[in-house]
Order: sequence, then C-alpha cells, then structure tokens
Amino acid sequence: MGVKTWLFQLLLLSFVLLSTVNKGSAGITSTFIRSEWPSTDIPLDNEVFVVPKGYNTPQQVHITQGDYDGKAVIISWVTTDEPGPSKVQYGTSEKQYSYSAEGIITNYTFYNYKSGYIHHCLVDGLEYDTKYYYKIGVGDSSREFWFQTPPKIDPDAHYTFGIIGDLGQTYNSLSTLEHYMQSGGQTVLFVGDLSYADRYEYNDVGIRWDSWGRFVERSAAYQPWIWTVGNHEIEYMPKMGEVVPFKSYLNRYATPYMASKSTDPLWYAIRRASAHIIVLSSYSPFVKYTPQWHWLREELKRVDREKTPWLIVVMHVPIYNSNEAHFMEGESMRPVFEKWFIHYKVDLIFAGHVHAYERSYRISNIHYNVSSGDRYPIPDKSAPVYITVGDGGNQEGLAGRFRDPQPDYSAFREASYGHSTLEIMNRTHAFYHWNRNDDGKKVATDSVIFNNQYWASNLQRRKLKKHQFMNVVSHATY
Ligand SMILES: *[C@@H]1O[C@H](CO)[C@@H](O)[C@H](O)[C@H]1NC(C)=O
Ligand SMILES: *[C@@H]1O[C@H](CO)[C@@H](O)[C@H](O)[C@H]1NC(C)=O
Ligand SMILES: *[C@@H]1O[C@H](CO)[C@@H](O)[C@H](O)[C@H]1NC(C)=O
Ligand SMILES: [Fe+2]
Repeated sequence: MGVKTWLFQLLLLSFVLLSTVNKGSAGITSTFIRSEWPSTDIPLDNEVFVVPKGYNTPQQVHITQGDYDGKAVIISWVTTDEPGPSKVQYGTSEKQYSYSAEGIITNYTFYNYKSGYIHHCLVDGLEYDTKYYYKIGVGDSSREFWFQTPPKIDPDAHYTFGIIGDLGQTYNSLSTLEHYMQSGGQTVLFVGDLSYADRYEYNDVGIRWDSWGRFVERSAAYQPWIWTVGNHEIEYMPKMGEVVPFKSYLNRYATPYMASKSTDPLWYAIRRASAHIIVLSSYSPFVKYTPQWHWLREELKRVDREKTPWLIVVMHVPIYNSNEAHFMEGESMRPVFEKWFIHYKVDLIFAGHVHAYERSYRISNIHYNVSSGDRYPIPDKSAPVYITVGDGGNQEGLAGRFRDPQPDYSAFREASYGHSTLEIMNRTHAFYHWNRNDDGKKVATDSVIFNNQYWASNLQRRKLKKHQFMNVVSHATY
C-alpha cells in the first residue's frame, strides 16, 4: 500500500471518527488552550527583519500571479538608496538568465515617512509547470531567487494552496509562517490584514510596512501570495493628514486585476491549476449596481467548472462566524452575494478578520427576506463551506470568546494560531487541513475531505463515469 493511499485511509478514518463523535449537526468547540507567546511585535533589530547588505540591494522581494491563467508573475521589491534598474533577469536554469523584463518604479510619502523605490515587474509568457530562476539588482548587490509555475489549467491538476490571514509580525506570526513553509503549500491565498503597521503612528507606519516586507520574503519571494485587503490596509488617518485609503498597500502590493476585467486592484480573479479564485474587497462598495457588484456578476459567468472545477472565494470579513469578535460584521455582504454563491455552487469561502479558527457546515439563509421565510440559516447542499483563518498571529492576540451555545451552522471552532492547507487531488476530491501552531510542531487539527460541488451533482457524476470509461478505453487501445 502506497504512503498516499495509507494517508488517505487514515484521513477517511479520522473523518469517520470525527463525524461519529459529532452526532447530528452540533458542532465542536475545541477546548485546547495553547501556551502562546506574548502578542507583541518582534523588535526591528531582530534578524527576521535583517536588511540585506550592500548598496541599494533589493529587499522585500515578493511575487504574485501576473495574469488570469498562471503563465505570468509580478515580481516586486524595494531599493532604498536610489531607484536603480527595474530589470528582472530570468531563465530556466540556475545562473543562466536568458531573458529579461523591465518593470516600473513607484514611491510615496506617508506623514513624514518617505518610501523606498518600489519596483513592480511583470514577467510573462512563461511555460507551465517549470522552475524559473530570477535575478534582480546590480553587481555585488544583486540577489537571486526562484519560483515554480503552476500546471496548466486542467480539471484534474493536483495543487496545494495555503491559506493565511491576519499575519502581522510577532513571534506567533513567525511560527505560523515557518509552519506554513513546511506544509508543501505552493501558493498562498492571503485573506487580508498584512503588516498591522497601522497600529503604529507617524513614521513607524511606513517602517513597519518595510519590516513586514522583509519578514515574509522568505516565502513570498519563492511562491505567489494572492493578496486580499483587510481593514488594517485602509489606513485612513486624518490626524496624520493621511486620508487616501489603501495608500501603502496599493503602492506595495500589485495584483493582476486587469486580467480578469476588474477596474480596481482590490477585487479580481485568477485561475490556477484546477481552481478559479475570486478575491473580493470587504472594504469597497459591493451593494447592487456598484462596480464590484457588476464585476462579480460577470466574473461568475466566466467560471468554467469543466476546466477549473474548484470555485473558491476569498474575502476579509467572514459571512458566517460565531465568535464574539466582529460578530455580524459580514452581515452587510451576505444578502447581496449569498444567493450567487449558492447559485454558482461555490466550493469554499475563506475569510480572516476574526483571530480564531472556525469552519461552518453547508448552510444558507437565502430563504429569508424581510417579509417572510425562515429567519435562521438552514442546511443547504448547494452552499459553500465558510472557513475563517484569521489566526495568523498578529499583535492584537486571539479572539478567545465564542458565542454560547455554538450555533447549528458552526462545525468546528478553536481559538489558536495556525494556517490552513487545501490540497486539491483532482476534480472531485480535495484534502483540507487546519494546522495549529503547537509549540514548535505543526498539528493538523481539523481535517476534512471536500467533494467538489460541481462534480458531486448527479448529472456531472454520470459524465465523469463516461470520462473515466473513455480514459480506460483509450489507454487500452495503446
Ligand atoms: C519619489 O522619488 C523621487 C526621486 O528620488 C523624488 O524626487 C520624489 O519626491 C519622490 N516622490 C514621493 C512622492 O516621495
Ligand atoms: C420572500 O420569501 C418568501 C419565502 O421564502 C418567498 O416566497 C418570496 O418569493 C420572497 N420574496 C422575495 C421578493 O424574494
Ligand atoms: C480523486 O482523488 C481521490 C483521492 O485521492 C480518489 O479517491 C479518486 O478516485 C480520484 N478521482 C478521480 C476521478 O481520479
Ligand atoms: Fe481585520
């Protein structure tokens, strides 16, 4: 028996055990209490924030997907002494850079803070499933990194996403990041609230954005992080004369929004391997007739489950969550978008914001309207599972108070730091884990096997049988 099969059976077993312990629809509130580090930011002189040596050396290197389908990346970095070239040299073997691309430079001020020179360079026309090496900077100050492009868009493409939220820059954040980096995750879906620099005042706001950029480089320079905005990115700070929302974020973190016909970097979509990922902004207008509403309506029509069976939505504010912290904040978006999520059979919705972990059952509340209908969420096979992973480890600490009793819609909840991984096996199955950071070990605490919402329907099942049969036949003829 292969390790994979064995693991799968173990997973199945734990799933069965979990569902027997968890009779009926009552959820689990985990009583685990972790011995946490204090929720304070790591001091700036700590080695995790080290500034790379040399004149004008690129720092805060990070990449994100650069197009709709995964054949491009946007590479971003900061230089501090002078603008310097915005050139990326790259190629498929180490130290042999056959190609180059030219980027753009931006800079901004925030109160008296002056940013470094922020470079964004689109590298496109890449091959799928290929390791690329890249080099930025000049002479002795140059630095080299690498990344792996995803497999081509295919319904059965195997791919692992990590999900991290509300990260910040504490020792708990570091623990989450280090555990994630050992998880085998290939791309991060980041659900908002990056640096928590806005907890500082005056020039330190800018300085803590820079330190965070250096902090996440250990992962973000080597694999794409897909960005979502949270409330800590708004930075509306009139007392410092700063009233342009998302100023630091928009200058520093690029997104490929135009590739999905979005008109705003704060909401967009990408397709990667077997997944269609929709990124929403909880802090931009979303009610009927607004640009985000129009865009989402059109983007949902573009989803092709035959090509990308896994439909995943990410946003900052959870729609279903039963923690006392931020309770009901997602309720403004629910009546606008929930019926679409049901209609299009979204598989999973990931959010952050609440600093604790929670997973829902498949439920919906679309039958209720102000004049009639059931006022309480009810089980709904077409509904997504809502998962909150706002437990990255920022300086605000954990949200330890859950509503009591646990509502019927809540399947599992625990106030600990951690991250999730979603390993898509093929068009029908995905293995999901939430991993608690537990004193130096990564502990898989909540494990579920998700069946794809599109291929699970009877009609598609029949189609799938035929597809498998055809495969057998075509193999047999060889
Ligand atoms: C950007 O950098 C240039 C060149 O150093 C400088 O002249 C300009 O004032 C900077 N702009 C902002 C908004 O900081
Ligand atoms: C309101 O809810 C009732 C009961 O679910 C339903 O019959 C009715 O069509 C709904 N009305 C509107 C305008 O959605
Ligand atoms: C999908 O993956 C699951 C889990 O590895 C496996 O049991 C199933 O047979 C696979 N289905 C297809 C269509 O390959
Ligand atoms: Fe938040």
